[in-house]
Parts: sequence; structure tokens; C-alpha cells
Amino acid sequence: MNTSSSVASRPVGERGAFQTNHLESPTLPSRYYTDDAIYRRELHAVHYRNWCYIGHVSDIPRPRDYFTDTIAGQPIFVMRDRSGEIRAFFNVCQHRGHELLKGRGSLKVGITCPYHAWSYNLDGTLRNAPHTETVANFDRAQFSLRAINVAQSAGMLFVNLDPECEPFETKMGRFGETITRHLPDFEDYVAVERLHYDIGANWKVVVDNFAEAYHIPVAHPELARVLDEGLDDFVQEERFSYFLYRSRTGFEGLEIEAGSPYVAWMAWPTLNMLSLPGSKNLLVLRMLPNGVGQCSERVDIYAPEGPVDPKLLAVKSLFMDHFNQQDIGIVESVQRGLSSLGYDQGRYVCDPEDSWFSEVPLHTFHWQVLEALERLDG
Ligand code: FES
Ligand SMILES: [Fe+2]
Repeated sequence: MNTSSSVASRPVGERGAFQTNHLESPTLPSRYYTDDAIYRRELHAVHYRNWCYIGHVSDIPRPRDYFTDTIAGQPIFVMRDRSGEIRAFFNVCQHRGHELLKGRGSLKVGITCPYHAWSYNLDGTLRNAPHTETVANFDRAQFSLRAINVAQSAGMLFVNLDPECEPFETKMGRFGETITRHLPDFEDYVAVERLHYDIGANWKVVVDNFAEAYHIPVAHPELARVLDEGLDDFVQEERFSYFLYRSRTGFEGLEIEAGSPYVAWMAWPTLNMLSLPGSKNLLVLRMLPNGVGQCSERVDIYAPEGPVDPKLLAVKSLFMDHFNQQDIGIVESVQRGLSSLGYDQGRYVCDPEDSWFSEVPLHTFHWQVLEALERLDG
């Protein structure tokens, strides 16, 4: 990730201005986690104009299959058209705004709105609008569904709500390759579990917590015992990072060989992924904002299709019953602290060697948020 460009308006808190150099900078002032006006600007600057993970090709295996979801509260659906091409649209009827589809399933001829039965073809064009023959100057061609850009990478699906967005590959070019070098057949994996956590913290607090390993020995002592601190492989591009660590043995209930890969990814703006040792798995986590002090953490666990590997159950328990519960308690406590009159800014704990505990990725993430906000204003 690149912090060489400058951000003109660096926020100032009680310990001074946010700095380009992470070794010198105080952290983001706490209002960035509690101010509703900043949150609303972030929706437009970050969530509505970046590539966001939405699912996997196995969610819509056949033509006409679809699923609905939201990106920062914006209802959308993703589907395969008749020819198998993947498309995405805002899930909003162009008559008076009713949502068109619910849940997931398979479409028949087209998409019919449940309110007044306007119907749309699978390419989004308006097919029929009852009783509009006498409506003055009614041009059906002007009422197609609003299309959304979709990209695929190693079977993962991403959407970008900005019609003018840059192509996915521009800044995420090697992302898919980092997945397939570790899980070569990931495109054939399926979601074996989908988890949803409502968290009382600003979305950035949860991303922040994934951006540093400084807390691991303190907050996750079991994980610290499994994880070797040496980094074995590393890829960093402007919009994502990939880290391959090696595991030690010794976690009760999880039989792993020493040296098994433990892989983590962090991708701008809200995606984090883990592949834990012991079985073939990918845990895909995303943080969806839901108000300035609330977010939803959604976790999709992918594994090869077929009978579930018992070791995957151990991985799930390691994640759900240990790390994630510990992290949710942490981030909710931090949100209360950020809202306190007794705190405004801290420091990024980094060393010149960029050791394992370094909070450089945290500083980089905050820099990206500031850049995005500035671009919105510019
Ligand atoms: S809102 Fe969809 S048909 Fe009226
Ligand atoms: Fe953690």
C-alpha cells in the first residue's frame, strides 16, 4: 500500500496533526470514530466507490441464479443471465423504489416487482409496465435497472457501486494469484458456513483490529502459541497485502503439523481473510458499516465441496469460540473508549525494522481513509 502521495488536510487532535511518517504520527483523532458527519462522508468516499467483496461464483452456479445483499445499506443483487454472464444491479424498482428480489434463488423469465408488477428482463431492461400506454412521454428505455460493476478474482466476486470506477485489476492485480498459490482450486470451493455478528463499534475499529498483530500475544494467547512470528511470504500492492506465516503445533483440539501455512490478507477497504492451518479453508470477513458506532461483521467460510473435513470443525471452533469472540469484546470496548472525554489520540507502535508487532498497516489504512475523504471533497 502506498502512502507516498500527500494528504493536504491532515486532521489535528490533542496530540497534534496526523503525520505521513508512521514513526512520528499520532493516531486518528477519536472524532473519526464517533462523528456522524464524518461517517456519512465515508459512506460516499469509501464504501460507495471501492471494490467490495460480495460472494463467490459458487453462490450462483447456474444461469438465472441470483442472490441479494447490501453494501453499506445499499440493496443490490447479483445474478447470472441466460448466457451465464454475471451481472449486478441495484435491487430497486425504477417505478417508485420498491425492492425487487429477496434472499437467493433462481429467476424465471424476468424480474417482477411485487408492488405494481413492473417487470424487467435479465439484462435489466424494462420489459413491461402495466397501464403506461397513456402516460405522457413514457420512454421504457429510460427505466432500466441501474447496473453495478462486477469483477471476479479466483472465484471471488466483487462489486463497485461507482459507475466511473477504475477496473478491479488496476490495484488488485495479483490478489487472485495470492489465493490460488495457496488454494489452487479455490474457484471450486463452496461456502460451508455464513456467520453474522452485529458489533457496537465503528467499522474502522474492527478493520483496525485486523491490521495489527501487536495485540495477539495479549488478547489471543492460544493463537500466539500456534503462530510462528516469522513471516515466510509477503505480497503488498496498493490495495491489498498478503502474509504467509508458519504454524507451530500445540493448540488443543487442532492437530497440525509444525510449519503448516497460516495465511492472512487485508484488502482495502473492508476485507480481511484468513486461511488457518489444519484443513483447506478460507475465512472471508467483511465489515459493513451500519451507523457511526455500529457495524456488521460477516464471515463466509469456504471449503472444498463434499463431506466436511473434521479438522475444519476445529478451525471453525478456533475462530468462532476463541479469536472472534475475544476480538468483538475488544472492539466494543475500544468504541466506548473512543467516545470517552478521557481519550483523543494515541501513537502507532512501530519500529524502524517493521517487526511483527508493528502497527504500520494501521497507519496505512488510516491514510487511505483520509485520502478517500479528500478525493471526495476534491
Ligand atoms: S414500485 Fe415497482 S412496480 Fe411500482
Ligand atoms: Fe485479534
